[in-house]
Amino acid sequence: MLRSRILGTGRSVPATVMTNADLEKIVDTSDAWIVERTGIRERRILEEGRTTSDLATEAARLACQAAGWDPKTLECVIVATITPDVPMPATAVYVQDKLGCNGSAAFDLVAACAGFIYGMSVADAFIRAGQYRRVCVIGVEIVSRIVDWTDRSTCILFGDGAGAVAMGPDESGRGVASTHIYADGSGAEHLHIPGGGARMPATADTLRERQHYIKMNGRQVFAHAVRNMAAACEEALAANGLTINDIDLVVAHQANIRILESLAERLNIPMEKVYLNLQYYGNTSSASIPIALDELARDGKLHPGDKLLFCALGAGLAWGSAVIYW
Ligand code: UT7
Repeated sequence: MLRSRILGTGRSVPATVMTNADLEKIVDTSDAWIVERTGIRERRILEEGRTTSDLATEAARLACQAAGWDPKTLECVIVATITPDVPMPATAVYVQDKLGCNGSAAFDLVAACAGFIYGMSVADAFIRAGQYRRVCVIGVEIVSRIVDWTDRSTCILFGDGAGAVAMGPDESGRGVASTHIYADGSGAEHLHIPGGGARMPATADTLRERQHYIKMNGRQVFAHAVRNMAAACEEALAANGLTINDIDLVVAHQANIRILESLAERLNIPMEKVYLNLQYYGNTSSASIPIALDELARDGKLHPGDKLLFCALGAGLAWGSAVIYW
């Protein structure tokens, strides 16, 4: 059976660490509150002068290297991001140029925290259709540049980073067994940036009103995350004739440890089966799953045939799940 398979992974995270203690100096918060309510202890912040395409390119190079590919031979570059280098053109074209695969397909995909699963789903369809054999999917966010550093309810949550996978065809039975992607635009207002688009172009007033930063109704997003990610996981298992006991590891979007604990409870699995790195990176949106995957792969924690279950939910609301036979 022809499947798409992840043949290499890579990640690039900024060197600069911002701890909860650092945040205590910026907004009215405490390490105790952040740890108890989110599980996050520190996050990475990109240095001035570097941008989204820089981290994305580094992660993509490493993923290609792990796959044994020259980046120049990539046929399609998909960048999942809500923090592009510029409003247009796509960040993917800058990444493509830096990688040297000019002439390949290159585009961005906006599905926020679900962006990596959306990107994988598109790559999987391209590969199974025979359209491309060498696809790089990158989840990358520099959320520190769009977060309101005066809003304690959001600025403590996010971090910067990039993760990438090199995907190609495989007939051994290993690879992407399924992807399910969903959205419900009636929840768009729960997590959005009101300003800076065609609806509210940037003016001195919109800047003063801080309309160009992330606004979030955390409780609403939390409730949807638990419910919809659990439902998407159940759907993924059913589509593959699996039960949760067949899954070796759940690699879920890293937003909040309490969301992951509630998800584990709904799926009836112990937390040992849910990968956790949000304590080190915070919520890196579309980058969280590929960063986690690269850590797992490079730490030798993944074995051929392992069954992985991915899930994520974010702005849109957009969410999804995937089953991978590693
Ligand atoms: O990636 C996908 C998108 N995002 C998410 O998945 C995030 C989902 N939501 C969440 O993770 C949680 O809703 C938050 C962590 C954002 C907030 O946690 P919560 O338990 O829902 O807190 P809350 O917003 O209900 O606020 C509880 C209290 C409030 O005080 P009062 O009104 O009870 O007096 C807040 O003002 O905590 C206060 N608070 C803070 N206190 C200290 C909010 N942020 C902070 C803070 N430090 N940073």
